[in-house]
Amino acid sequence: MTATVDGKAATNPLRAGLQTDRISDPCSVVFFGASGDLFKRMLLPAMYSLRVRGILPNDFSIVGFSRSKYSDDQFRQYCKEQLDQFSTPDAKPQGAIWDDFAKRLSYISAEFDDHNAYGALAKRLNDNDANLGTKGNRLFYLSTPPSLFPKIIDQLKEADLNPHQGQEGWARIIVEKPFGTDLDSARELQQTVDRVFPESAVYRIDHYLGKEPVQDIMALRFANTIFEPVWNRNYVDSVQITAAEQLGVELRGGYYDNAGALRDMIQNHVMNLLALVAMEPPAGRDADAIRAEKAKVLSAIEPPAVADVPAMSARGQYGAGAINGKAVQAYRQEPDVNPNSNTETFAAVKLTIENWRWAGVPFYLRSGKRLAKKTSEIAVTFKPIPHRIYGETTDTIEPNVLVMKIQPEEGVAMRFSAKVPGPKSHIRSVFMDFNYGTGFGVQSPPAYERLIGDAMRGDQTLFTRWDAVERAWEIVMPVLEVWENTKDFTFPNYASGSEGPDVSFKLFPGWRPL
Ligand code: BG6
Repeated sequence: MTATVDGKAATNPLRAGLQTDRISDPCSVVFFGASGDLFKRMLLPAMYSLRVRGILPNDFSIVGFSRSKYSDDQFRQYCKEQLDQFSTPDAKPQGAIWDDFAKRLSYISAEFDDHNAYGALAKRLNDNDANLGTKGNRLFYLSTPPSLFPKIIDQLKEADLNPHQGQEGWARIIVEKPFGTDLDSARELQQTVDRVFPESAVYRIDHYLGKEPVQDIMALRFANTIFEPVWNRNYVDSVQITAAEQLGVELRGGYYDNAGALRDMIQNHVMNLLALVAMEPPAGRDADAIRAEKAKVLSAIEPPAVADVPAMSARGQYGAGAINGKAVQAYRQEPDVNPNSNTETFAAVKLTIENWRWAGVPFYLRSGKRLAKKTSEIAVTFKPIPHRIYGETTDTIEPNVLVMKIQPEEGVAMRFSAKVPGPKSHIRSVFMDFNYGTGFGVQSPPAYERLIGDAMRGDQTLFTRWDAVERAWEIVMPVLEVWENTKDFTFPNYASGSEGPDVSFKLFPGWRPL
């Protein structure tokens, strides 16, 4: 299906190979925090690209809601400038598509607890229904600092903007991460959400789930026959999940110094990867069948006892060093970071899943900033061969490894042993490598595009259900508590640009090099 402007096709030919038949109902999308960084860098470009690709319905509107002062026209101009800067070359704001998009943009400047402003928002949405054909459907996107989420949710209820009887159309809410800062605050936030929106209307975003290679984990497992028979404790030796970044905390020191790597990455992104790689085959492809299996596998992970935390975890904080040959400063010197900070910028944990499939198989999870390379991947290492008949005595026969590469490379690689050509029977490890870009000849759409599009269509598959969020908090809480209550006097304990702290190799000597 193709979007049109004045009867003419509006689909961009560069993305023409991608699926475009996922148009949602007409609707209004309200972005709380529309003057913030996430909106201009990710959310707005995602909306515009959805429009360019013909995935937005023809009848839509976007309402920005934030404290900064803009008139509607100034907001349109602001959006154009941001799109000029942040959108991909195939989705620049120009021509008939931009003109149509711009006329569907408007803005409300207010404090987030200003009751009257929500009345004005309700009126604006009704006007949009009448003038822009949005049919009473509303998607609210919370992209403000998390401390404002409860205020906004309560105000939406006060203004009758939550789902309720007699309402025309649907109302859904997207909640940005982090969903809480620990188990108690997550539960508190959930109580607020639950008072106002039913679970079927709540879309908890974890942008990792919108990445194509993450979605492919399930396809790899359940659209092939060869992996499933060996996907268990009989054949798998260990699983390592890595989310490594070269970036430091940039300008987010204020937030990050109160969060740390365990909260920022492991509790959500990495835990979701674990759930996808370890879950049982779902009965079907619908959102609840999949989300139930994800929650089930997390429920089979016992949170560690406090006394066991030192043996199953490792933490680190970056010192000065070099990234791509350029000197960078230590974490404690970053803006808005406490110069004596005890916050970890690297976290590694070892978890086990207590069920028939995985009993005894260690899952190693690690994530860190200012590491040697940006790389996110899941590596499944299989057991060694049971009996050796091949290879000269000096040859090491390495076990098979299946690597799901999430970023920056997107693909799947398999390590296996092969005979080196020649008269001797030397054995060496080689890789079979599949790459999405070359394999399919198209670029993966950015995660936010997929996720916003899905929320507009009412597909919750790629959003995290409350029971899974809660369990992920339960699993990390003992580690968080121990780390918060005990200062690590070795910090900073890894140089920027390195493979991370030595303690992580003590936890697991088998980490794949970044
Ligand atoms: C965010 C974290 O959720 O994910 C950031 O808050 C991190 O600290 C980012 O940098 C990583 O996302 P990506 O898509 O760049 O791997």
